[in-house]
Amino acid sequence: TPENVFKELESERVVATVVIDDKDNAAGLAETLLEAGMNSIELTLRTDEAIEAIKVIKNKYPQMLVGAGTVLTREQVRQAADAGAEFAVSPGLNPEVVEEAMKAGLPFAPGVCTPSDVEQALSYNCKHLKFFPAEPLGGIKYLKSMSAPYRHTGISFFPLGGINADNFTDYLKQDYVFAAGGSWLAPREAISKGEWKLISDLCKDAKNRLEN
Ligand code: 3PG
Repeated sequence: TPENVFKELESERVVATVVIDDKDNAAGLAETLLEAGMNSIELTLRTDEAIEAIKVIKNKYPQMLVGAGTVLTREQVRQAADAGAEFAVSPGLNPEVVEEAMKAGLPFAPGVCTPSDVEQALSYNCKHLKFFPAEPLGGIKYLKSMSAPYRHTGISFFPLGGINADNFTDYLKQDYVFAAGGSWLAPREAISKGEWKLISDLCKDAKNRLEN
């Protein structure tokens, strides 16, 4: 159920958001993340390889929690669900995409950045919302103030955009934030070059910061 998936993301705390240029790097990437203690990944559908990469990872590492990001169309919702994605997110809120995700039973966190966005999300009963782009908008200070009127509705945020090793734990301290994510854990270039040691170090550093 959607609730279970979001609970899992909440217990993971951090999600690696990736752009993958070659599906042949998918298994190495997933193995590196898992070995570093990162059990969830969001593959953005910005490249043609992303859907295949989702399939590869779900096949080889079924224990990994795999989501699709940058889901912009109804078709992408269906492709993501068919590939085995267990959740999906988008940068903004497109009613068509929200409706298709509901139809497909795919837990979906639309992107929001204003009170009107939040109210539109609530009209679809979406309570888990991507907050994007978190840092340029004003970070925690903005999110806290923007979401204050809606706290009683039980909404919870997944901030992305400009999140990094130095600021992600501050977001996670807010009780209206269920997880944080970003590309800093597995940079696009590092994935393309198969720099697994670098990615492993970035993920382990984040894990350490979570514990301290
Ligand atoms: C996203 O899709 O959420 C963003 O690309 C992640 O933002 P970042 O690259 O600033 O981490």
